Amino acid sequence: LVDDDNERLSKDCGYMYGKGFVRSQSDGLLMPAEFVEVAQKVQDFEVRPDDIWVVTFPKCGTTWTQEMVWLLKNDLNYEEAKKVPLVERFPFFEVTSLASKFFEVLTDDKVPLDASLIDLEKASGPRFIKTHLPMKFLPKALWTVKPKIIYVARETKDVIVSYFHHQRLMVGYTADFETFCRSFMNDEVLYSPFWPHVLDFWKLRSEPNILFITYEEMQKDLAGIVNKTADFLEVQISDEESQNLCNHLSFKEMKGNKSVNFEIYSDVLREKKVSSDENCNFMRKGKAGSWREQMSESLAVEQRCTVHRAALLCGAKMEKVE
Ligand code: A3P
Repeated sequence: LVDDDNERLSKDCGYMYGKGFVRSQSDGLLMPAEFVEVAQKVQDFEVRPDDIWVVTFPKCGTTWTQEMVWLLKNDLNYEEAKKVPLVERFPFFEVTSLASKFFEVLTDDKVPLDASLIDLEKASGPRFIKTHLPMKFLPKALWTVKPKIIYVARETKDVIVSYFHHQRLMVGYTADFETFCRSFMNDEVLYSPFWPHVLDFWKLRSEPNILFITYEEMQKDLAGIVNKTADFLEVQISDEESQNLCNHLSFKEMKGNKSVNFEIYSDVLREKKVSSDENCNFMRKGKAGSWREQMSESLAVEQRCTVHRAALLCGAKMEKVE
């Protein structure tokens, strides 16, 4: 991005990511400028066939899915899941390149931009890897080695609302909701653009190594998704085990579970006055359709127009848009 854009973006966002933002010329991906330094390493990352990847646009139900997947693949070991934070059991692939500044705040220390990648290179398998990167920026070997990939999508307006609160909690976003909403619609929030992110994986949903699920399906029929994911991961699970897992994955349980609720980060961020929202939690509403409580009807209509435009650009056929 040219300097003017960076200045405007950081003003709208109310914060500056380290060296500012950078946008890919070919795909429009918006990332912190530091990402450029590790993008090639990310592309060349050595993928293994027994890796398990959870890929999402931020705020689509990543944490919920990670906990489900990890437990299914680890003999439903609830004790270990409670003891070891999810961020260690299921590392965030591009985390330090994304949040070098964030980590400096948390640890009072500089963490190498590729720390997460280096740890993963050394890790024994099976590795559980979370990423928000869009398809074209993921390691090239994913498409030849073909490990299991779970992609989770969520209704856009709920993503916008959830992302707004996340940015307030985690990076001290200070602009108002309407500004954030417009930034999202103009592809000016990190990991934008949203629709190509989702549609690239939607097109591959029939590939045997890809499972495409949605936050709304998890809300509606969690047991069904647990069983579907168990089948996909080739794990046997009894009805009773499935029921117990659903209880563990309920919003109430996860909200109170320190291993998954991000309190270890958000408490420090509040204490250090990074957070611009004293009362927000990572486990916020946990509902489908709660955008109605925050987004005006006119903004919702504007948002729907951008869906149509984006879908046309992506070459998708629109059957029904809420
Ligand atoms: P809200 O902000 O709408 O409450 P991610 O993990 O991708 O960042 O997504 C976070 C969103 O998933 C938040 O949405 C969070 O509350 C919701 N979430 C996390 N665990 C959940 C659960 N067990 N049940 C329902 N929603 C959950």
